[in-house]
Amino acid sequence: MNNILRIAVQKKGRLADDSIRLLKQAGLGIFRNPGALTCRAQGLPVELLFVRDDDIPSLVAKGVCDLGIAGENVLREEALEALAETNLQTVRALGFSRCTLKLAAPRDGGIKAITDLAGMKIATSYPEILKEFLCDQDITAECVTLKGAVEIAPALGLADVICDLVSSGATLAANGLVDFATVMQSEALLVRSPARWNDDKEALLARLLRRIDGVLASRATKYIMLNAPKDAIEDITALLPGADAPTIMPLAGRDDQMAVHAVCRETIFWDTLEQLEARGAHAILVLPIEKMMG
Ligand code: PRP
Ligand code: ZN
Repeated sequence: MNNILRIAVQKKGRLADDSIRLLKQAGLGIFRNPGALTCRAQGLPVELLFVRDDDIPSLVAKGVCDLGIAGENVLREEALEALAETNLQTVRALGFSRCTLKLAAPRDGGIKAITDLAGMKIATSYPEILKEFLCDQDITAECVTLKGAVEIAPALGLADVICDLVSSGATLAANGLVDFATVMQSEALLVRSPARWNDDKEALLARLLRRIDGVLASRATKYIMLNAPKDAIEDITALLPGADAPTIMPLAGRDDQMAVHAVCRETIFWDTLEQLEARGAHAILVLPIEKMMG
């Protein structure tokens, strides 16, 4: 078992889907039997453990799993709760499962700012993060801990305010709540255990990370191809967002036109395409990049 990487991932939920998609794109064959809580991946010596997301920090901290993919919010809450477990090392910020831990109150209830929180009851699933925030703000308020469906607390008279994760904002709106302050931003992180590993295992992680980096880079990157008049090439290449030196080639049978190919490391918006077209570019193609290395 020493030369196999065990990775803890969320059993089900939004983070679970994104975590599995990343690992599959990194070349792992993942075929889950319904109900099975472990799965030996194909392609690399990796085993996945499917667990509740709030168990991931402690499983990795204890070395039961070598790696884990968890939300920054959960990692922080667990770290504050059990100070001994703060020695997890973040190896990558993964850019998905982005959400914000926010304070929100009933729309017409008169609570509109952090300064209105003194003496209030605040419902949350993240009591440690909330307590730290209140302490930093020098506010005394009462925390009411709920494991889920926190947004229902004000309507039930359990709390005046909530502190919960917001992604699209639909849950807040559906429950007549309006956010008024941000407690923390969060995204998925890949963390590793503090245990010492042998060289083979370190090499395996390095190999997996190179692939993950390739996936993350390719997600943000597009390949753009276009044709343009020779005298507009300088203008046009200057418009390409985050492009390395583009490849510029003659077009067969067209002395006045050139083809431009470039890898763009930033989002290419419709605005940019319109500006390119206005400068004479045509036959513009924007292509996804599946994998990147080197
Ligand atoms: C999460 C979170 C919010 C909601 C935010 O709840 O706790 O309630 O999603 O998403 P939105 O802004 O896109 O509406 P989840 O669905 O995980 O349920 P739970 O909190 O009851 O576990
Ligand atoms: Zn919720």
